[in-house]
Amino acid sequence: MDDTKIFLSESEMPQAWYNINPDLPAPLMPPLNPGTGQPLGPEDLAPLFPMELIKQEVSMEPWIEIPDDIMRIYKLWRPSPLHRALALEEELGTPARIYYKNESLSPAGSHKPNTAVAQAYYNKQEGVGRITTETGAGQWGSALSLAGALFDIEIRVYMVRISYDQKPYRRLLMQTWGGECIPSPSDRTNAGRAILAQDPDSPGSLGIAISEAVEEAAGREDTKYALGSVLNHVLLHQTVNGLELKKQLAIAGEKPDMLIGCVGGGSNFAGFCFPFVKDKLDGQDIDIIATEPTACPTLTRAPYRYDFGDNAQMTPLLKMHTLGHGFVPPPIHAGGLRYHGDAPLVSLLVSQKVIEPRAFHQNEVFETAITWARSEGHVPAPETAHAIKAAVDEALKCKETGEEKCIVIAYSGHGHFDLAAYDAYLTGSLTDYELPQEMIDEAMKSVPEVSGPA
Ligand SMILES: Cc1ncc(COP(=O)(O)O)c(C=O)c1O
Repeated sequence: MDDTKIFLSESEMPQAWYNINPDLPAPLMPPLNPGTGQPLGPEDLAPLFPMELIKQEVSMEPWIEIPDDIMRIYKLWRPSPLHRALALEEELGTPARIYYKNESLSPAGSHKPNTAVAQAYYNKQEGVGRITTETGAGQWGSALSLAGALFDIEIRVYMVRISYDQKPYRRLLMQTWGGECIPSPSDRTNAGRAILAQDPDSPGSLGIAISEAVEEAAGREDTKYALGSVLNHVLLHQTVNGLELKKQLAIAGEKPDMLIGCVGGGSNFAGFCFPFVKDKLDGQDIDIIATEPTACPTLTRAPYRYDFGDNAQMTPLLKMHTLGHGFVPPPIHAGGLRYHGDAPLVSLLVSQKVIEPRAFHQNEVFETAITWARSEGHVPAPETAHAIKAAVDEALKCKETGEEKCIVIAYSGHGHFDLAAYDAYLTGSLTDYELPQEMIDEAMKSVPEVSGPA
């Protein structure tokens, strides 16, 4: 009988994170100082991040050792299992072999603690006692609150208003770990007050919440800022997952034909697939598929341009797929996928056609999530369900063609705090959004005309 789960022992955990930067098929365009248009220096980032993370952000070392204190905490839930989705295969009647790498077993219920713990550790090392951040779905805010509790660091989280209202239990989880959670836009910052003045009922967005968290950190000596996705060092920390997956697939005697994940800012997807991108560049035949919502179609429809990471134009300019920093995505239930931009590393690989993006409507995503829950048992996060949808589509294609493909899903989190979204689906009140081109064109008007260094 085929094994249902493939485990690694703690001693088999990766000892270093994988940095894809030196292996990229084209050079990564640097972040720019919006004032001068010049590439950023470490001093530009020093008010926001500890120096060790700034070094990781620009590092060209292929491997960065994981400190012992981080390894000790990783072992609270790592290594995470690789499951074979035998029940789903049977339900679909597909000859494909479907696997999923389960990051939902962390204390916060997602992949986010992989970097939250690392970021809290480096802040602590440099004497930082207070960190601000933003959160969309609440997964990142809870992960950083957990890490704050473990390293005795005060955490303040600006949570996107729509998710704050949809997910009161995520707020309570943050508070349980000692984090403070404020709905964004708020009246605590200039950025928040400016939005509220225009639209007192603003549902918020990750771009706005980032502005609030960055403004506060930049204005206080005792406070730094942490980002839950997008930046190189965040993606780096997540590679612990893909490196484990490589070993687990080898134990199962498998070579993946398809790796599928969901992309908000790109961190879980990158951590899961980057260790395989090099194999693909070296000639291995792997389809690497990034999924996203049609309501926020950054990788499938947005231009590849320099833009701000936040609404209030406080962050550096990043070269990425962007719908424009002023874009406020429709209030869909996959809150973690409502970001106007994408990680520069993921954007580059999409522009180089190494990664293929696909977008889905939320109703079809929830329909698949229900099929999954009723066969595999686990209830996926709405974000994760985007990846499952693409995997099920592919498995059904295999049923038509008879191909026995090995499909691996990045199972980024559980949906236990997303049951209001399941309720909306089950009662038929979930709306699909297809973004009109005029809305994208309008939002792109605010994006600066910057081409970056030659
Ligand atoms: C479960 C889950 N998956 C995916 C994401 C998307 O983020 P990222 O693209 O950084 O992995 C989030 C974000 O909150 C999330 O909570």
